[in-house]
This record gives sequence, structure tokens and C-alpha cells, in this order.
Amino acid sequence: MNARQQLTGLDHYWLPFTPNRWFQDHPKILASAKGAYYTTNDGRRLFDGLSGLWCCPLGHGHPRIVEALTRQAQTLDYSPAFQFCNPETLRLADRVAAMAPEGMTRVFFTNSGSEAVDTALKVAYGYQRLRGEGSRTRFIGRERGYHGVGFGGMAVGGMVANRKMFGPIMLPGVDHLPHTWNPAHMAFSRGQPAWGAHLADELERLVALHDASTIAAVIVEPMQGSSAVVVPPIGYLQKLREICTKHGILLVFDEVITGFGRLGENFGAQRLGVTPDIITFAKGVTNGIIPMGGIIVREEIFQAFMGAGAPAHAIELFHGYTYSGHPMAAACGHAALDVLAEEGLIKRARALEPVLENAMHALKGESGVTDIRNFGLAAAVDLEPIPGKPGLRGMKVFERAIEEGFMLRVAGDAIAVGPPFISTEDEIARMGEGLRRAIRHVFQQGNAA
Ligand SMILES: Cc1ncc(COP(=O)(O)O)c(C=O)c1O
Repeated sequence: MNARQQLTGLDHYWLPFTPNRWFQDHPKILASAKGAYYTTNDGRRLFDGLSGLWCCPLGHGHPRIVEALTRQAQTLDYSPAFQFCNPETLRLADRVAAMAPEGMTRVFFTNSGSEAVDTALKVAYGYQRLRGEGSRTRFIGRERGYHGVGFGGMAVGGMVANRKMFGPIMLPGVDHLPHTWNPAHMAFSRGQPAWGAHLADELERLVALHDASTIAAVIVEPMQGSSAVVVPPIGYLQKLREICTKHGILLVFDEVITGFGRLGENFGAQRLGVTPDIITFAKGVTNGIIPMGGIIVREEIFQAFMGAGAPAHAIELFHGYTYSGHPMAAACGHAALDVLAEEGLIKRARALEPVLENAMHALKGESGVTDIRNFGLAAAVDLEPIPGKPGLRGMKVFERAIEEGFMLRVAGDAIAVGPPFISTEDEIARMGEGLRRAIRHVFQQGNAA
């Protein structure tokens, strides 16, 4: 019997963001996980080189999280999100706000990054409307940006493949800043590229084109994660902040990947020294164990909704989810944030940054490697595509890395890594060498499909 015949469900399950026909022939089934390793259903141990999907920085099966979930299930498994709350969720809002940049005080919970983004866009527009600027209906995203798959997030996102099937039904009135990756000026940069701050001036051009009175908000990831680690040039985000402030445009940082330590500080905002008006978060808040997301907003945004003149018994924001602030997710969030603090894991992520940088940049010179980028505990390697078959080389390296014992992420012909904060220096070095072997193996095969 081959691997496919042994598996039930392959005839019924439609995998998200996956080439399903390829998967049918190359099924990858994970049976268990502990610490920084997964084990497949055929007993192979894989180093978790992308922390799940960027969401499990503390590793898997942490006893503290397991205990918190068990306790919460026995105490209060669900409480209605509307008109009621529970102590865990209230306390988690306090903790998340305490970790955020100064002045960002109010937390609204969702269940995913996509929901967080759509919530942020609705709150941004609602705020503009409440302050008498209802003509500001436009949002500005950025090429190569990823903001999830809701109707708002898809529209402000800038990854072409995610948009092209849905063009005719896209939220109108969206424009995009250019992305900041330019190999002529920044190939093989370590950390933030020195070139490119001027690309933020493109926002002035968009303001001149559309007029500030039509723009509600700009949304960017401080570091673009899903389009394979595009690192902001030095000074770029500061300029975006200045231009937004000058024109009354809200600045939203989508920190679904960068929040909770990936860049070596609580949020990317702190690492990069720029405070936005709204932060979106998800993934790391619960270490990915239970879905949870949310937004953090400046106090004056919250107060604009509270002070809109409606009677006290009237709902101020007609928005929310059945599972907003789910008590199980909140309990998981507390345990994850306890582990993050008590085990000093954000500092550890920062300390591992040069280790990852060296491991990945050591691949410079391998045939077919056209760029290497890194920032925080994240890095990416661009590979020369097979002519006429974009994405196939990346897929082959990804498959080969599994043979080598590493789970990485493939995005077209780029390989992205974001190891758990609990990784050892040795594990990161071994991941770099495993990727080297995978790249050599695939390039030795040439361009054959
Ligand atoms: C920056 C960013 N925003 C939003 C999302 C969407 O999050 P989710 O998949 O939880 O909906 C992601 C997911 O990777 C992301 O990286």
C-alpha cells in the first residue's frame, strides 16, 4: 500500500492555501509535536523551522499551556462574547495593552489575523466618520503585503495570487504603496537595508492623487512576513508615520507575525521605534494553540466611539464575533505570556537573531541563491526559478528539506524560516546546513520538472 492509500480523508478534505493535487501525491501528515519538533505519521522527526505557521514561538506541548487549558475547560469553557465577559479575557486585555506601545490602551478580540485586519479597517473608517471625516473611505495597503483573506484584508493585501481570482468583487477605493524590496540596492542585506526610506514618499504621491480627505488609513506589516521576509528600510516606517500624521490618516501596523516577540521586542512597533494608531495581532498571543486575534487602539479612537452621543444603553460598535475573547483562548494567552516572560524568550529571540543571520547568510554563494534577507528571528532565501515554472524550484527545496528533517515555508521560489524562540544555537545552525543540502540537491537535478 502506498502512503496515499493508507490515509483516510484525502478524498474529502480541501486544504487551505495548498496545491491540493500536489498534496494528494505528496501527503504530509503530522501526528504529534513536542518542543521544537513535529513527528510525522511515519515516525520522522522534523525541526519546526517556521514555528508552525509563525505562530508557535514557544514550541509545542508546553506543560504550562496544557495545564491552563485543562483548568479553564473545567472552570468556564465558554462565555457569551456579547453583553457578558469573563475574568480571563478582561485580564488578558490588561496584559496585551501593557505590552503595547504607550498610548495604545484598548483591546478588541477576534479569532484570527484576518478578522483582526477587517476589524481594524472597520474601526479606522468608523473613527474617521465619527470625527466628521466620513469622506475618508479609501484604504492604502502595500504591494507584497499580506493581511489575511477577509474582504478587507484581501483588498489591502498586495500578493497578486491572492487577489487575481477575486478582482471583480474586490472592496473598491483601495490603492497600494510600492513594496520596498529592490535587489539592485539591497540584495544580501543583513537586517534593515540602508537604502529605501524614500519609498515612503510614494504615500505623498498617493495623497496628492486621491486627496487626503478620501483616505481613512494606511495598513502595512512592519516586516512583511508571508511574502518572504521583506525588511523595512531604515527610516521608512518613520516617514510613513510622519506623512499619515500630517494628513490625518490612521496608520495600522499588521503585527500578526511580528507581535509577541518575533522581532525581539513585544511588538515590531517598539523594535522599529514607530507607534501606529492601531495594531493587529494574532498567532503568538496564544502560541498558536487556540485561535485568537485582536486589535489594540489608541485611547482617543476608543473614546471617539464612546463619546458619539448615543444613549448609554446603545451599542457603540456593531461588530464582534461569537468567539471574541473566548475564555479558553484567553486562558491559553495568559499561559503563553507567562512562559514568554518567565523564560525570558523575547530576549532569547533577540539573542538568536545574529545566530540565524549567520546561518542563513552562510548560504550566499550557493548556486541558484539570488538573495538572503533577515530581521528578528525571521529570514528568507530567494532561489532562481526554473524557467517557465515559477514556484516549482521552491516546492522541490521545501520537499527536500523535509527529507533533511526540517519544516520550512515555501512562498513561490523563496524559502522562509522563523524558528521557535526556544531553539538552540546548534539547531539553527543545523537548519541552515540542512537547507544548504536541500538547495544543492535540487540544483544538481537541474531544471527537470
Ligand atoms: C500579517 C498578517 N496578517 C494577517 C494574517 C491572517 O491571519 P489568519 O491566517 O489568522 O487569518 C496573517 C497570516 O499569516 C499575517 O501574516
